[in-house]
Parts: sequence; C-alpha cells; structure tokens
Amino acid sequence: MADPTAAHDLHGHPADPSKRDFLQLVALSGAAIGAAAIAWPVIDSMNPSKDVLALSSVELDLTPIAVGSGVTVVWQGKPIFVRHRTPAEIKSAVDTPLGDLIEPQTDAARTKAGHDQWIVLIGICTHLGCVPLGNKPSDPRGEWGGWFCPCHGSQYDTSGRVRHGPAPLNLYVPPYAFESDTKVKIG
Ligand code: FES
Repeated sequence: MADPTAAHDLHGHPADPSKRDFLQLVALSGAAIGAAAIAWPVIDSMNPSKDVLALSSVELDLTPIAVGSGVTVVWQGKPIFVRHRTPAEIKSAVDTPLGDLIEPQTDAARTKAGHDQWIVLIGICTHLGCVPLGNKPSDPRGEWGGWFCPCHGSQYDTSGRVRHGPAPLNLYVPPYAFESDTKVKIG
C-alpha cells in the first residue's frame, strides 16, 4: 500500500525526489546569481570608458603613494590595489606561518624581490566580487591589517591573503613589473 505521508505533486502523484532536488538546486543557483548581480554594479561603476578599457597595460608613478597608504587604479575594467606597506606590515606578512592560511602562499610569492614594500592586487573579493576596503589608513582593514570586505565580512592580510571567510581564496595578483623604483607597469 502507498505511504500516505509521502510527498505528492500538484496532481496527487507521488513527488519525484530527484526532480525536487533539481528544483532546489535551480533555486539555489538563482540565489547565487542574484547575489553576484548585486556585486557587479559596484565594480561596473568603476569601469573606465571603452578606450581606457582597451589598454592592455597601465603605468603608475609610485612617488605620491605614502608609506601605509594605497591607491586604486583601473586595469582592463578591474580595480587594482597598489599599496605601500610599512616595515611592520611586511614583517607580519612574511612571518605568518603558512599553516595559518586558508590558501597558503608565501608573501615572497606574491611580491617582487627587492620591491617588497609594494603589494599589487586585483581588488575584487574572491567571495562574490565586492571591492574590499583598506587602501586608505582610515579605512577599516580588518583584524589582519590588510583589507576588509563589508559585503559579508571577509578579511585579508597585508599580503592580500584571505584570513577570514567566506571568501575562499586570496586576492589575485595581476601581471605587473617594476620599470624603475618609482614606476610600475600593470599588465
Ligand atoms: S563579496 Fe562577500 S565577503 Fe566579499
């Protein structure tokens, strides 16, 4: 005899559990897309005009960036953080045991030898794509002194490595090179 407590569809037929799981999955991915759609306008509002977008690289004069401060430039439609780290910020990034990290990466792997006072990052949170705060010393920088994403509370250290989720990954490092001690080329 049929189980009277089993779920039924609108026509009184027993519900197909695999179809139900599928519908739940569709609903969940719809929610994820909705959240991402909220994050994108934040980034989109930072987009430059189309001619700037077409630039494959951006040069930046580092001279005006004070120690402890950072700037945001736009490269290929993405916010790029360039921060001038203090000796204490470098030390804390270098001294962090890899075992403490969600995505273990050394600070040396994320900076350029001889220029480790500079950290260059794609300023897009690896959770859902918000732009974290922390370039200005007056910004909230989170417990690890790097960047703080107000969207859902992710925190990054002074190497841009994620230290507190929900972001699953470190901030990405874009391709870049120093043309001199005071000029960097991104891209
Ligand atoms: S987008 Fe969710 S924590 Fe950054």
